[in-house]
Amino acid sequence: MTDVARRPPHPPPTAPTPAIAPASYVDGFRSLEDETRIEELSLEGKLPEWLRGSLIRTGPAKWEVGAQQMRHWFDGFAMLHRFGFEAGKVSYASRFLETRAYRAAKQNGEITYSEFATDPCRSLFSRIFSVFSPKISDNANVNLVELGERFIAMTETPIPVEFDPETLATTGVAYEAPGILTTAHPHLDRATGSVLNYAAKLGPRNRYRFFRLPPEASKPELIAELGVREPAYMHSFGLTERWLVLVEFPLVVNPISLPLSGRPYIENFRWKPERGTRLTLFDRSTGKATGPFETDACFAFHHVNSYEQDGEVVVDVCAYEDATIVNDLYMERLRAGAPVADSELRRFRIKVETGAVTSEALLDDGRLELPRINYGRCNERPYRYAWGVRNAGSGWFDTVVRVDLESRTTKAWSEEGCFPGEPVFVAAPGATEESQGVLISVVFDPGKGTSFLAVLDAGTLNELARAEAPHHIPFGFHGQFAQR
Ligand SMILES: [Fe+2]
Repeated sequence: MTDVARRPPHPPPTAPTPAIAPASYVDGFRSLEDETRIEELSLEGKLPEWLRGSLIRTGPAKWEVGAQQMRHWFDGFAMLHRFGFEAGKVSYASRFLETRAYRAAKQNGEITYSEFATDPCRSLFSRIFSVFSPKISDNANVNLVELGERFIAMTETPIPVEFDPETLATTGVAYEAPGILTTAHPHLDRATGSVLNYAAKLGPRNRYRFFRLPPEASKPELIAELGVREPAYMHSFGLTERWLVLVEFPLVVNPISLPLSGRPYIENFRWKPERGTRLTLFDRSTGKATGPFETDACFAFHHVNSYEQDGEVVVDVCAYEDATIVNDLYMERLRAGAPVADSELRRFRIKVETGAVTSEALLDDGRLELPRINYGRCNERPYRYAWGVRNAGSGWFDTVVRVDLESRTTKAWSEEGCFPGEPVFVAAPGATEESQGVLISVVFDPGKGTSFLAVLDAGTLNELARAEAPHHIPFGFHGQFAQR
């Protein structure tokens, strides 16, 4: 058993750090204070005529409160960014989510709520209070979902935040998830338009839960449940036409220790590779669990896609060798340019009848993170293309990649000295091919100190257009394209 939070640091980089660092990707971890609204960004190239709607993203933007510092990339206060596409032009707006965590910090001049790896509490009483009380942060900086008419920003606490997609104003708590931990990567149920998500209920008896939230509802319905002694850290899950796919990587917590540990949330989790990786399938119509099916230990934040084929369940993830990546993303390390572990595209195949599991790297160089697919067409189903970013040698994500899972080849887009974020796929209207559409990615250019929006052809990865933002946009996580 290894204490993840106290794992030894990586060996130092071989080159000594220069006294005055040149412009580098680490500037993408600077806080952004400005809230912006610009009707028309300067645009190079030509947008497809059909591209109308908006790319809305959430991400951490501010890691300091007075003299205090948030400790981890995942801790920064959430800011929403909207790039609007209309008549060949691009507008931009940004606004902090007015969460209670953000408001309390502004009001008190100090960090008030516990985040992923930052715990402001000092007294034993307030520590106990912060684990089992409404003092849970609502800092929804990871992802968002469009559910019916609603837009909901999410993190891994059970209090997703609703906002207005036009003004980006925060409008309130969207619903309460049935557990203390949840994921910011819900799936959409094609049949009903509901959101499907996961929650872990911790207490004397811990439960993994899946729930459904119909578009107009405010109360989630439980659809599956399973007891667990030491819940695993869960960032996302898989979905096939029949199954909800829960993959437990062996980064686990003993909830009994939580109230007295005095540590922020993630630092209570332990890496226990001897447990291996466990895959459990939950029937979407009955909730019945099948498994767990076991394979070698690894770690992942992101599922890419899952589907059933010839009696097997195929589960693709962006896998790391272990959970060191959690440590790599502390701000002190990131801002110092310390090395960050790479994930690779990995495929598990479960033979449901025999319980046999295989685990295979899909490419010789399958480095991939922040994965996206043609979700509307391919989620739950066999698919050919995945898009994402990788670190091709600069130390941070510097390349957008298209992976062809059929030919097992990749295409890449990069620009010298620039650092793209998650490439969001937008299908062309009436598309007949899976990769027919565009990718939209926010790219940081340290040389200029600003970010731009790159619009690429999703098939060829040729750049079609770029729109210049007036400032840097701190590195964030996820966003969604909305048709309005
Ligand atoms: Fe994520």
